[in-house]
Amino acid sequence: IKKYGYQPCVNIGTAGHVDHGKTTLIQALTGSWTSVHSQELKRGITIRVGYSDAAFYKCKSCEEPLGFSTTPKCNNCGKESELSRVVSFVDSPGHESLMANMLSGSALMDGALLLVAANEKVPKPQTKEHLLALQTLGIQQIVVVQNKVDLLPYQEVMANYQDITKFVKGTFAAKAPIIPISAQSGLNIDALIGSIESTIKTPERDEKKDTVMHVLRSFDVNKPGIKLKDIKGGVIGGSLTQGVFKIGDEIEIKPGIMNEKKKTYEPLLTEITSLGTAAGIVESVKPGGLVAIGTKLDPSMTRSDSFIGSVIGKPGTLPENSTELKLEVNLFDVAVGITEDTKVQPIQAGELLRLNIGTAPVLGKVTKIKSKNIEIELRRPACIFEGGNVAISRRIDERWRLIGAGIIG
Ligand code: GTP
Ligand code: MG
Ligand code: MG
Repeated sequence: IKKYGYQPCVNIGTAGHVDHGKTTLIQALTGSWTSVHSQELKRGITIRVGYSDAAFYKCKSCEEPLGFSTTPKCNNCGKESELSRVVSFVDSPGHESLMANMLSGSALMDGALLLVAANEKVPKPQTKEHLLALQTLGIQQIVVVQNKVDLLPYQEVMANYQDITKFVKGTFAAKAPIIPISAQSGLNIDALIGSIESTIKTPERDEKKDTVMHVLRSFDVNKPGIKLKDIKGGVIGGSLTQGVFKIGDEIEIKPGIMNEKKKTYEPLLTEITSLGTAAGIVESVKPGGLVAIGTKLDPSMTRSDSFIGSVIGKPGTLPENSTELKLEVNLFDVAVGITEDTKVQPIQAGELLRLNIGTAPVLGKVTKIKSKNIEIELRRPACIFEGGNVAISRRIDERWRLIGAGIIG
């Protein structure tokens, strides 16, 4: 773990079409390649949501956008810089078949970078679909990044920049800055950091409220062949939206695990044995940035992201597990994300939808419709917070497409 002395305070996501350079940019900013899963390396695409941290520094002597860097030494004048912020990045997959993963990651984003490759026609399907996803989940602080400018002559880069400007103007991100960069050669990264620092604000969070952590990853950190006495308990990664956790805290995980005999989900109780952030191993964690918690759970339970979509709090403080979801929905006019846009038909009673509730993708059947208000029976229970945003997807031509947004009532 890298040590910056501070827990990251904000989660910045990536969004954009497959191969437009999201993971390359995160590597340029954090020094680490987040797509390390074997299938990801083989296919050259991001599959699972990646995450990594960076510290941003600002030189006192240099004028903006010069002087922003990810090292304490100014790249421009060589003098000592001041720490501006420690941030976490949530790196989305761009492939159209991986929208569910993108939406899970988006649940934790405070702001996002929308990457658009300069050498492609604007907009590509997931450029549109990811931007709609951000809108759906209420992520308003956006920096548009024109990437791969190294591939084209100046005139063509400028023409593409105009196309991006036109595209963004017609969306909710109309006011977002557009920063041309080359993630691969590190061009203009200082200006991008400057733009992130002025556009994506650290949200205000309440550390006094009941703790809520949304889970994005979970791991078995033990190497094969380890001695029994050295085995470490299951590790769970995610982000707190409110409250704090300390080592030794009793925690409850919902919806928990399936009790095969009773055929119901039962919440899990365990204890925090360790806590990690970009600041290293710590005694307590607060909202903001990605954190990892060590538990007393059997590590085989937390293997391979099995806990994605779970919610963690102190015992008795989280909403009850429920399979009933009530939504006030707002459907898009058209479903984007494929080459041809398709008109979104009204939701039908009996139809199967995919709901992204927090970091959890859950299937559910529509049981009742009364104009904008629908009721859904979920296939498995979820920990549902009133007032939360839900992304709604429907199967169109054999693919799950984002069709609208819902607010939990
Ligand atoms: P997915 O996660 O699968 O959606 O892709 P991604 O958006 O993370 O793209 P990735 O970073 O994997 O980059 C895709 C390809 O574009 C790789 O071959 C990169 O080396 C290349 N690439 C990324 N940024 C640049 C750039 O600034 N210039 C050039 N020339 N190539 C780039
Ligand atoms: Mg990627
Ligand atoms: Mg790729």
